Amino acid sequence: MIDELEALAASAEQRLMAATDLDGVAALDAELLGKKSQLSAAKKKLGTLEPEERKAAGRAVNEIRQAIEAGISAARQRLSAAARQIQYDAERLDLSERLGEIRRGSLHLNTQARDRLEDVFVSMGYTIAEGPEVETAWYNFEALNIPEWHPARGSFDTIFVDLGEPEEVMLRSHTSPVQIRTMENTEPPIYIVAPGRTFRTDTADATHLPAFNQIEGLVVDRGITLGDLAGTIEEFVHAFFGGEVKTRLRPSYFPFTEPSAEFDISRPDGSWLELGGCGVVHPNVLANCGIDPEEWQGFAFGFGIDRLAVMRYELDDIRELVNNDVRFLRQF
Ligand code: PHE
Repeated sequence: MIDELEALAASAEQRLMAATDLDGVAALDAELLGKKSQLSAAKKKLGTLEPEERKAAGRAVNEIRQAIEAGISAARQRLSAAARQIQYDAERLDLSERLGEIRRGSLHLNTQARDRLEDVFVSMGYTIAEGPEVETAWYNFEALNIPEWHPARGSFDTIFVDLGEPEEVMLRSHTSPVQIRTMENTEPPIYIVAPGRTFRTDTADATHLPAFNQIEGLVVDRGITLGDLAGTIEEFVHAFFGGEVKTRLRPSYFPFTEPSAEFDISRPDGSWLELGGCGVVHPNVLANCGIDPEEWQGFAFGFGIDRLAVMRYELDDIRELVNNDVRFLRQF
């Protein structure tokens, strides 16, 4: 019996070493150690043996069981490590192929223009303010001295949002609502600029985008006059474009400023480009925000950042800014 068991142990060891997958090992496990295995049969037979023989045979059965168990667990370990390696090899990504293609990105033209504008105004002592892109009629119109019946509402080509009362919620059609939000919760003196996205029902063409960017400026202090406004615009244009560019103010009308003006900058060919609107803050607007117009005065301006980028980088078409043509964007 001991000879038989030793032969079994030798053949088990060989078969386990030859196993090529985990299923094979599981089958061997059942065959070698299960209820119907030669080993189990030998164990049952122990009771029929003479005491002397039984002792030796019993020890052999136990030793061989342990040896087979160790062989099975070694085979499992070997094959699962191998299986893992095969899986790794199959799933490996060869990233070396892309090494030749690394390119640096750059900031979008609009972002560059906005950053420069912010730098210019921050160096003049302004801070940056922000407001939401979805506004209510109060902030976009009413507090800015544009009541519901006012014809100026129509000129803003507003995109309304289907929420609440009709024409009550909208995508802001200018950054001027940030004036109101700032004055509502800041004590004068106030010196802020507010860059941000604005929206109108315009169809995109060479000089218009339905979603565009404006920068609003607001100053509220004592004894502010139109002269301060003109000087500030000139100062900023020189800082942004350099010495050769001239500015001019033309009388205009906005319900939230009085007097109001549009301001232009000179092109290299001597013609003028309209950049934005400005004026002395209307007393009603100050009062709407709880600021006493007898004590405080202010000026405000608002102009298009996209237009400024078009001018500064000499683009032919404002739509280039949103076409996302990487060949175009890479030039800047
Ligand atoms: N909000 C005005 C517009 O979009 C511009 C403006 C801003 C005019 C501030 C005067 C003062 O047309």
